[in-house]
Amino acid sequence: MSLPGTSFSIFIALLAAATACTHFMTPNPLFVRNLIDFSLTFSSSVIPSTIPYKLERSHHNHHHDKKTIQNICDDFPPDFPPPDTNTTSILCVDRNGCCNFTTVQSAVDAVRNFSAKRTTVWINSGIYFEKVIVPKMKPNITFQGQGYASTAIVWNDTANSSHGTFYSGSVQVFATNFIAKNISFMNVAPIPRPGDVGAQAVAIRVAGDQAAFWGCGFFGAQDTLHDDRGRHYFKDCYIQGSIDFIFGNGKSFYEDSRLYASEFSSLKY
Ligand SMILES: *[C@@H]1O[C@H](CO)[C@@H](O)[C@H](O)[C@H]1NC(C)=O
Ligand SMILES: *[C@@H]1O[C@H](CO)[C@@H](O)[C@H](O)[C@H]1NC(C)=O
Ligand SMILES: *[C@@H]1O[C@H](CO)[C@@H](O)[C@H](O)[C@H]1NC(C)=O
Ligand SMILES: *[C@@H]1O[C@H](CO)[C@@H](O)[C@H](O)[C@H]1NC(C)=O
Ligand SMILES: *[C@@H]1O[C@H](CO)[C@@H](O)[C@H](O)[C@H]1NC(C)=O
Ligand SMILES: *[C@@H]1O[C@H](CO)[C@@H](O)[C@H](O)[C@H]1NC(C)=O
Ligand SMILES: *[C@@H]1O[C@H](CO)[C@@H](O)[C@H](O)[C@H]1NC(C)=O
Repeated sequence: MSLPGTSFSIFIALLAAATACTHFMTPNPLFVRNLIDFSLTFSSSVIPSTIPYKLERSHHNHHHDKKTIQNICDDFPPDFPPPDTNTTSILCVDRNGCCNFTTVQSAVDAVRNFSAKRTTVWINSGIYFEKVIVPKMKPNITFQGQGYASTAIVWNDTANSSHGTFYSGSVQVFATNFIAKNISFMNVAPIPRPGDVGAQAVAIRVAGDQAAFWGCGFFGAQDTLHDDRGRHYFKDCYIQGSIDFIFGNGKSFYEDSRLYASEFSSLKY
């Protein structure tokens, strides 16, 4: 199934109809609430530790509290990452420094240029506040998160702050054969009011051919998912935005995914 960019809104309508009878992927309302709170907190510059903690709290039980964890790295899988094979490498990212990399971008930068091997960038739970670029010379990368409500890459550029909608993406993928599994991409720039100019805020721009997303979340308001160019596959994903929130010239297939159009009235700003 491939569709030209010009029929995108029709495509979305069809898609909504086509998937209406399949089981939807629905985020925990608490998670979405936290994201909204988060976007408010973030844009009013209070940022760091409070929010990741909140996110953790939303899916750990109360008795499983910080106090009971002796060392922040105790939960970490032993002997991880496993050694390279002749077809795959694994790079490990943990924001608390429990393995080699603390940022996603630093792991991407460490991938050999034009490697024919697949490199899995394993990203532990947490919110990674960074703008990430996967450049053309880094094909065959997989981002493996720990669940779309547990691992997220988050930034807050807008069309105004980044010299155009196309550059506002929290994550921008230019490489071929990119895969993401069980991770969220978010743009938490302030939610535009109707009529605002320059407030487009992309969560991810996918500009490489043959990208695939399994179990991923895409969170933003205006212009969340920039399905820029190439052939892309989305399976069991959750895509949220307020206006034009999937756009671009990509020829993509969205399967068993849930699109959620947030109403202005339901979001505080
Ligand atoms: C992004 O958030 C930071 C920290 O709150 C803030 O200083 C910056 O102005 C925000 N950028 C945009 C484009 O809103
Ligand atoms: C890759 O490794 C496997 C064993 O782990 C070996 O059987 C295979 O021949 C190797 N392939 C290449 C191309 O080296
Ligand atoms: C990652 O850490 C392991 C030890 O845990 C080390 O052997 C390996 O060389 C490191 N890899 C990179 C790319 O830094
Ligand atoms: C990849 O190529 C870029 C630009 O050509 C260079 O700056 C970078 O150091 C290279 N990275 C690696 C890991 O070889
Ligand atoms: C890696 O990327 C190249 C170029 O896009 C592609 O030809 C090759 O099949 C890819 N390898 C793997 C393991 O996906
Ligand atoms: C994604 O997470 C779900 C549960 O959260 C799990 O069942 C599934 O195996 C995971 N898939 C991948 C590819 O990580
Ligand atoms: C973007 O910039 C334009 C021109 O400077 C300004 O009029 C507009 O209010 C800005 N938009 C936002 C959302 O800040």
